Amino acid sequence: MNSLFEDRSLTEQKQLLNGKQVTVNQLLPLKYHWAWEHYLNACANHWMPNEVPMNKDIETWRSHSLTEAERLVIMRNLGFFATAESLVGNNLVLAIFKHITNAECRQYLLRQAFEEAVHSHAFLYIVESLGLNEREVFTMYHAIPAIARKDAFEMNLTAALLDPHFATETLEGAQTFLKNLIGYYVIMEGIFFYSGFAMILSFHRRNKMTGIGEQFQYILRDETIHLNFGIDLINGIKAEKPEIWTSAFQQHILALIQEAVELEIAYAQDCLPQGILGLQPGAFQHYVQHIADRRLERIGLPAQYHAPHPFPWMSETIDLSKEKNFFETRVTEYQAASTLRWD
Ligand SMILES: [Fe+2]
Ligand SMILES: [Fe+2]
Repeated sequence: MNSLFEDRSLTEQKQLLNGKQVTVNQLLPLKYHWAWEHYLNACANHWMPNEVPMNKDIETWRSHSLTEAERLVIMRNLGFFATAESLVGNNLVLAIFKHITNAECRQYLLRQAFEEAVHSHAFLYIVESLGLNEREVFTMYHAIPAIARKDAFEMNLTAALLDPHFATETLEGAQTFLKNLIGYYVIMEGIFFYSGFAMILSFHRRNKMTGIGEQFQYILRDETIHLNFGIDLINGIKAEKPEIWTSAFQQHILALIQEAVELEIAYAQDCLPQGILGLQPGAFQHYVQHIADRRLERIGLPAQYHAPHPFPWMSETIDLSKEKNFFETRVTEYQAASTLRWD
């Protein structure tokens, strides 16, 4: 007699959307191995914000050795990320989780939700360490128009799924759901985060504000996996339900990404009205367009901008973050299960 786990029909019954919402998360037999791999990679990258020493940053921030333009770049990015992370976490828990009916994807989503909480924690830790004006940082999401526009763009996508009549069983519903996934994984985590990553990591490259820089490296490493999971999920749903991916819907998504590119270029210009640290505001237009093209290609849409890559060092930073010995200042060793002793 076949055991439960050897029953191939159970694997075949698994689907990304429109399965049972309320049931046990039956991980085995695995069907979507990519989801499990992303989960394992995410766990291998575990970190906590308070492991990163902030002494040097505190010294630099208080010494007034930074220019006003440099301080503006840091403050704007803290203001954007401090609240954007919570929008991603809320969307995962309130809008996405319910509709993804596959166990291995849900396992990843639970891990990702924790990581978004860790990222929010990082911004609270930075604000407290540097003694920044909490109110100023945590109200930028509505006080600064370039941030408010990006956040409103995302919150509309969450709200569309919270309609009590929303369901993914109809073609229109499935398209709205896929639009939410693209809006968060591809646009928020794949485009809206990247000007900020490049700005803050440019400080780190020049050995300034390295505590914040190191936190951003960890966040970038996590977000790279979030983006990769999201792209696998989007392409997985497209493969299972090809009727969703009509040419009209592709045009709609293309327009959405083009709108996001404009919002992100405006955000970069707002953070960086004059050049600093070798970063010129004009370079961000190319950077945002360049990464948007890469994201478009990965979900099967044509590149639109063909812009040069102005920050090749960002690719090196992303590659470096894949190295196992990435942690420079880690002080905590996590206990692996194999080392636990019960005597
Ligand atoms: Fe995050
Ligand atoms: Fe994320």
